[in-house]
Amino acid sequence: MCGIIAYTGHRPATPIIIEGLKRLEYRGYDSAGIAFCLQNKLSVIKTEGKLSNLEQKLNSQEVLLNTSGIGHTRWATHGLPTTQNAHPHLSQNGRFALVHNGIIENFKELKKDLISKGITFTSDTDTEVLVQLIAYYVDKGNSILQAIQKSLNQVKGSYAFALIECSQPQTIWAGRCSSPLILGKGQGENFIASDIPAFLPYTKEVIFLEDYEIAEITPSQIKLFSLSHLTPIARETVLIHWDIQAAQKEGYKHFMLKEIFEQPQVIENCLRGRIDASKQTIIIPELNDIPIPSRLKIVACGTSYHAGLWAKYLLEDIAKIPVEVEIASEFRYRESLLDRDSWVMVISQSGETADTLAGLRLAKEKKATVIGLCNVIGSSIARESDITIYTQAGPEISVASTKAMCSQMITLLLLTLFWAKQKQIISQQTINSFIKQLVTLPEQLKNNLTAYHQKAKELTPKYAWAKSFFYLGRGIYYPLALEGALKLKEISYIHAEGYAAGEMKHGPIALIDPEFPTFALAPKDNLLPKIKSNLQEVQARGGKIIALTEPDALLNVDDTWFMPRSQHPFTSFFVLPALQLFAYETAIYLGKDVDQPRNLAKSVTVE
Ligand code: F6R
Repeated sequence: MCGIIAYTGHRPATPIIIEGLKRLEYRGYDSAGIAFCLQNKLSVIKTEGKLSNLEQKLNSQEVLLNTSGIGHTRWATHGLPTTQNAHPHLSQNGRFALVHNGIIENFKELKKDLISKGITFTSDTDTEVLVQLIAYYVDKGNSILQAIQKSLNQVKGSYAFALIECSQPQTIWAGRCSSPLILGKGQGENFIASDIPAFLPYTKEVIFLEDYEIAEITPSQIKLFSLSHLTPIARETVLIHWDIQAAQKEGYKHFMLKEIFEQPQVIENCLRGRIDASKQTIIIPELNDIPIPSRLKIVACGTSYHAGLWAKYLLEDIAKIPVEVEIASEFRYRESLLDRDSWVMVISQSGETADTLAGLRLAKEKKATVIGLCNVIGSSIARESDITIYTQAGPEISVASTKAMCSQMITLLLLTLFWAKQKQIISQQTINSFIKQLVTLPEQLKNNLTAYHQKAKELTPKYAWAKSFFYLGRGIYYPLALEGALKLKEISYIHAEGYAAGEMKHGPIALIDPEFPTFALAPKDNLLPKIKSNLQEVQARGGKIIALTEPDALLNVDDTWFMPRSQHPFTSFFVLPALQLFAYETAIYLGKDVDQPRNLAKSVTVE
């Protein structure tokens, strides 16, 4: 929710800020703006709509003179997505400009109080309160650091912000609480951003700002202070191994398509260092000397929740670990019955999803052991989990998650095999067979993706007219049916429901008619006869069917999409990209904005 970037250094700042905002646009894209100081005067340029609107406004020479500044791309929470509500926001006296990500929950009370002190507001946002409050405390004789401290002590909610002041053009202040903010350390230049790819072309050295800390940066220095006493904090820099290519489109039309096609590489990355080919063993060093959970609670949202549901089948079947999977926004608000013997796994691509993070904190309060399965290095979930396992998908920019789910599934499969081996309930022969299939999977997938893409292009004109879709699956394909429906909904805006195929006759089948197609996940396994009869029931009501299946499965449906033959559970890795590409091509066919679907943002750091 909202992207922040700030730069101070020796180069023209505006192009760096705009370039960074482009890489953060997945976090929000309903308005954007930048602010910088020139000759002791703040300039703010902002506009509603996408970043391209802002770029059009920035065509003067003046914007190349500044060598520091702050930028923002917004996903509205308080106040309509208008130019007036776009960030940066200015203090009434014109001395300060601020960009913010998060929600200031008590902004109404604070605003009322400031208005009673004679301060005039110009936007409907919660953010403006923060800049006005800081300016108010500075006017009362506090230093900028003291004013930030006093203001943040009054604020309830979540924030990550960057602040500039007109008389110190090269200094930027920042702070965070429950919203991400990362500092980039360059040579004679420094950066602040919501996510690493924003400054990745310039530096791979990062410093993770923690909650309740304030940063003050200049081109030559990064200083950190505790919010409580403003005492200086020493923090090591961390070297990030992501490369900039991973954060660029590289000739693909959309990040989503690029990320779908990256999945073979992602699988290779996930396996790297986790398989000892000579000893035919799975290695998960993070879990060495850690007891095996007797039961596991998985907590996640959206696509990550689907990965958790998928893993339940494996963990129970293969590792014989009973698993409950719960949506984080439900889990966090009910009696969880956890204690110090409980094990909770939180799954999150971004590592910043507010509900999942709250679930993690709740589990820790109850003294449960928390395993965090995360993609973004140094994210809040990664840092707060007792044991963190990175999923190695690389930066995922597309709002619709694709490769992250693939990486979560591979990691969860490895965990299942690791625990099954530790429990001595899996033979070495079975492990060998899994390893063999895992290492050949990337190549096999790579060989099929172009044909998959073609198939998706062929099918979409025949189905993109539909107002609603069913996605049906059984067993391990049921969570994938949920994922297929989610992908179609979020980028093509066609209503879709994922269902366990056997549940259809308990109500939903009433909806079937010739205008309500079904996408069936029907691999050739022991449940195929069952799904075939479910599909006959659909056909009997005139429903059209696309079946994703394997050669020889012989299904008499409107359209058949053949996957290569593979074994359970590896078939899932051929189902997933088919669902993603079908949704992608449908959205393209309907002319939708794939990488920036309406009303969505990638990282849901608010409730
Ligand atoms: C769907 C999607 C969302 C996320 C969800 C959780 O394509 O991207 O449903 O999966 O918001 O996000 P993370 O995994 O970052 O916690």
